[in-house]
Amino acid sequence: MDLNLNNLKKNDYQVVCFEAPSNIALIKYWGKKNNQQPINPSISYTLSGCKTTFQVFFREKKEDLPVRKFFFDGKEANDFSKKSSALIEKISSDYPILRSLDLVLNSKNTFPHSSGIASSASSMCALSLCLLKIVGVEDKEIISNYSRQGSGSASRSIYGGLVSWGESEVIKNSSDNFASSLSGEIPKSMLDIGDAVILIDEGVKKVSSSLGHSLMNDHSHRESRIYNAKRRYEKLIEAMKESDFSSWGEIIEQEALELHAMMMTSETPYILIKPGTLNVIEKVQNFRWKKSVPIYFTLDAGPNVHLLYPLSYEKEVLSFIKSELSEYDKNKKIIFDRVGVGPKELMGLSL
Ligand code: DP6
Repeated sequence: MDLNLNNLKKNDYQVVCFEAPSNIALIKYWGKKNNQQPINPSISYTLSGCKTTFQVFFREKKEDLPVRKFFFDGKEANDFSKKSSALIEKISSDYPILRSLDLVLNSKNTFPHSSGIASSASSMCALSLCLLKIVGVEDKEIISNYSRQGSGSASRSIYGGLVSWGESEVIKNSSDNFASSLSGEIPKSMLDIGDAVILIDEGVKKVSSSLGHSLMNDHSHRESRIYNAKRRYEKLIEAMKESDFSSWGEIIEQEALELHAMMMTSETPYILIKPGTLNVIEKVQNFRWKKSVPIYFTLDAGPNVHLLYPLSYEKEVLSFIKSELSEYDKNKKIIFDRVGVGPKELMGLSL
């Protein structure tokens, strides 16, 4: 019988379902060592609206070879994404019971695939949550550890609020293998943060994240990059503990620019920002200087700009966007998101 998403229940499949959010890094994970461990500790805000929902249907396998099917947005895809297959393989080798199950996976993002927002963070976290729930594992450190192996930044999506990943002397229990929550360490005002994502260019990324990270392996600025990231990691935590929004913002912008500086000065250089990126950055900085509104930019490994601001300044930021970034606003090229609470299990939901 041809399986589709509507006849799975009739065919004895049970289901687990989780949604997990994406995150935006303030201190960037850039460069890997060993098995997908970071060369420096990173810090991110977990988002709220930008998320992936994963459903995993499972039953005892009925044939020799277990069924493996993948749907994206309700439509059958020919193959799993490379990252999903590798993660399924990894978790199955540690929990072989998964090999005796037929699995049908269905995932859906709330944000456009082409927006350049890291869907691997939300999807690898949601997939880990589902597979590990099937085998009875609910420990967040273990789930974060597997999410990391799917995609480094996914390790941080397991917690809401402010999250750290990577070893650091200043954070107890910090690890290169899994993330930990920093939300309890900082005042609430530092978590009431909006993120307006300006979609400068929705084209396909020129550099995959794996290639990007590998540029750090023999980068001539590698050691100073690691030094700067560690120093900023510590300074950022201090600034946030003191609700010091101006140091917070300064560090965030330094990190974004250094990330791109690393790409521009690697052995094979890449320029991922566009004229529109610089245009938005200039407008944001001018607005901040003129109006004293704490709005700052950050960038991922692409041209889109994330504008971070305390939600207490939402009114001022929205009027800035209306007057200065109206072309993006009118063309629906802005995603308004905010810091959120982390993943959630959804019961009996059909996507
Ligand atoms: C610039 O987590 O996407 O967004 O581990 O290869 O999947 P892989 O990389 P990925 O890298 C994210 C890089 C970044 C910075 C960050 O999120 O910390």
